[in-house]
Amino acid sequence: MNNQIIAIWGNTHSGKTTTTMKLAKELSEKKKNIIVVMCDLSSPTLMTVIPYDTGDKSLGNILSAPQITQESILAECITLKKNDYLTFIAYKQGDNLFSYAEYDREKAVDFFILLRHLADYIIVDCTGNMENDILSATALEMADIVFRHITCDLKSLSFYESHLPLIKDRRFKADGHIKILSNIKDYEAKSAVIQRFHGVKYQLPHSQELEEQSLSGSLLESLTSKKGKQYSNIISQITETLISTDSETAALKSQKECSFKLESLLDSIKSSIDKLKDKIFKSFSKDKR
Ligand SMILES: Nc1ncnc2c1ncn2[C@@H]1O[C@H](COP(=O)(O)OP(=O)(O)OP(=O)(O)O)[C@@H](O)[C@H]1O
Ligand SMILES: [Mg+2]
Repeated sequence: MNNQIIAIWGNTHSGKTTTTMKLAKELSEKKKNIIVVMCDLSSPTLMTVIPYDTGDKSLGNILSAPQITQESILAECITLKKNDYLTFIAYKQGDNLFSYAEYDREKAVDFFILLRHLADYIIVDCTGNMENDILSATALEMADIVFRHITCDLKSLSFYESHLPLIKDRRFKADGHIKILSNIKDYEAKSAVIQRFHGVKYQLPHSQELEEQSLSGSLLESLTSKKGKQYSNIISQITETLISTDSETAALKSQKECSFKLESLLDSIKSSIDKLKDKIFKSFSKDKR
């Protein structure tokens, strides 16, 4: 397993949930096991993606339990009938800040450590205001990759003016965030925003079809319109990069393992030669006497 944690973060309404769903769908179609964690407790969003009853399962049950185990996580996983590779962990409809006992950062860390062992990719749909959500803040710290969503409006600029100082600490590795310009409309001041936020890597266009999918709770369906396909192409590029980076990391890991094994072999050869030399020297000195 590749066991990567991917955090999707950005200002309010920047397309975080949309990207989460599209990325999860695409990776699951490449037969990667995905767990999507949806952090939003102020307006639980899973019912907008899979609009059918998910029973009493809730992320809140995991985090409020005295101890988190793989079993307690698996008990709250929501699976899809049509896609064995895609699993969700989310707050249930009606949950709010007061529904569960409080939890601390340590518990959130335990949660992500255990999750890493359960899927190839853990995709975390973070809340923008991570300062109010321990789970999102911890995901931003522990993620291997953070996709930072920016929209071409003044609210996004304001959001980052306020939030970038909060993730200045080295543990957030904010310089490594991958910046995505999201939901770009033709009339928006795209170039000015690109200039303002250096290093935008991906640009996701606005697609009416995508917006309609959000409205009808069908984000896991494919896009067929021209703009929809443009959007999907960018998601495919991101997916390809994720998968190829994984194989590079895996190759690097196996290279390191090989050189480690080779070094141990050399060490044992050297020690055998030393022992042999010692023996020869001793028998030579005996003969002389
Ligand atoms: N590329 C896009 N094309 C068209 N509509 C989009 C696009 N990206 C996002 N949207 C729309 O913008 C709205 C916000 O998207 P989404 O819910 O994914 O954002 P969010 O960052 O998760 O929001 P929140 O902060 O409320 O959780 C939705 O109505 C969605 O359909
Ligand atoms: Mg959202």
